[in-house]
Amino acid sequence: MLIYFMKLLDSAYRKRKSYFYKMINGKALEKELEKDETTEEKEKKFEKKFAKFMGVKHASLFGSGNHALITGLEMSKLEKESDILIQAFTCKQVPRIISTIYNSQLADIDESYNIDLSKAQVLTGKKTKAIQAIYSYGKAINSKKIQEFCKKNELILIEDCAHSLGAKNGKKAGSIGEFSIFSLRKNLPVGSGGVLCTSNNEFYDEILREKEDSSRKFGIKKKLLEKPIVFFRKNFPHAGAPYVFLSKLGYGKEEMNKELLDRFEISLATHSLTILPEIINKTVANSKLLMDELGTEKFIFPREEKKEINVYTRVPIFFKRPNKAVEKIWWKLQQEGFETGLFYKTDFEITAGGKKENFLFSVKAAEHMVPVGVQGLDEKQIIELAERIKSFSK
Ligand SMILES: Cc1ncc(COP(=O)(O)O)c(C=O)c1O
Repeated sequence: MLIYFMKLLDSAYRKRKSYFYKMINGKALEKELEKDETTEEKEKKFEKKFAKFMGVKHASLFGSGNHALITGLEMSKLEKESDILIQAFTCKQVPRIISTIYNSQLADIDESYNIDLSKAQVLTGKKTKAIQAIYSYGKAINSKKIQEFCKKNELILIEDCAHSLGAKNGKKAGSIGEFSIFSLRKNLPVGSGGVLCTSNNEFYDEILREKEDSSRKFGIKKKLLEKPIVFFRKNFPHAGAPYVFLSKLGYGKEEMNKELLDRFEISLATHSLTILPEIINKTVANSKLLMDELGTEKFIFPREEKKEINVYTRVPIFFKRPNKAVEKIWWKLQQEGFETGLFYKTDFEITAGGKKENFLFSVKAAEHMVPVGVQGLDEKQIIELAERIKSFSK
C-alpha cells in the first residue's frame, strides 16, 4: 500500500516540477552520509569545499541564509544604528533583519533588478557605513563598479548572494565583500542551509565563537528520518519533497534563525556540491533558452553587460502588456506546477510603505514582473513554460 502510494507520488512529481531534486543521486548521498566522520568533521569538509569554490579564505555553514546574515551583521564592527544601504525591492525580511541592529536606507533598483548605484549615491550621508548588495534572482553585479562605489563612499560591502551561487561579472559574486551570505535551498537541491564567506581572519574568529553558542537541538528527532529519506531518494528519485519536509520539521520561524544543520543535512549539502557545476550550467542554459523562446517583442529581460554569468534562481520576466494582474499570472503558473518564488510585490509594498514615488523602477517591477524558476527543467518543459507565459501577454 505504502509502495503504491509512493509510486503515485513519484509519478506526480515526475510530471511536475521537481527535476531539480532529481539531480541528487541516492546512492552517492547514502555513501556521503555513512562516511566515518563526526558531524563537525563533515561540516568542516563542506566549508572547505565551499570556500575553495568561492575563492575566499573561510566559509561557515549555518541553518539558513538569514541565520548567516544575522550572525554576520551582529559580529560586524559597524557602530550600532549606522545606516546600511539596501534595495527596497526584495524579500521583506532582509531590511527587517538589518533594522534590528542598524537603520536600513532604502534605494530603488534599476533594470538589472539590483540596487541603482546612482540613486544610492544621492542617499549616502555621514551615517551610511555599509551597503548590502543583493544579487537579485542570480543577476551578477559588476564587481569593479561596486568596489569603486564602496571605496568612494568609504562603505563596507556586504554581499547578499542568497540567489546567486556561481554568478559572476568580473570577480565571483560573494568573493569581494567584507562578508557574503548564501541560501543553499535556493541554489542547490536541498531543503535548508546558509553559508557566510569572508577572507577576514579576525572576523571569521568572531563568527566561530558566535556559532559555538548555537545548538543542534533537533538532531535526534531528525536522525530517525535519515534512513527512510535516503530509501525514498534511491527508489523514487523524482520526488523532492522529503528535504523540504525535513527542513521544516521542528522548526519555528525564530528557531530557524538559530539552529545549525544536522548530519543528514550537511551530507546532503556536501553531496550537492559535487554536482554544482552541472547545476550552474543547466540553470544558465535553461534561462537563456527561456528568454530566446519568449523573445523581446512582448517581454523585457534584465539588462545585462557583456561577459557576465547570471545564474537565475528565477528569471525575472517583465511583461510589457500583461493581460491580467501579475499576481494572477504568478498564481496560475504556480498552480500548474511551475516555480514562481521570490515574488516581491507585496514585500515591496510593505517595505516601501507610503513612499513608493521614491522607487520608480521598483513600482514598475511590482506591476509588470513575474519571477519564474527554470532550475532542472528539461528543454521540452522550458518550451511548454514559454508557451504558458506567452499566453498571459496581450
Ligand atoms: C535577498 C535574500 N537574502 C537572504 C534570504 C534568506 O535566505 P534563507 O531563506 O536561506 O534564510 C533571502 C530569502 O528569501 C533573500 O531573498
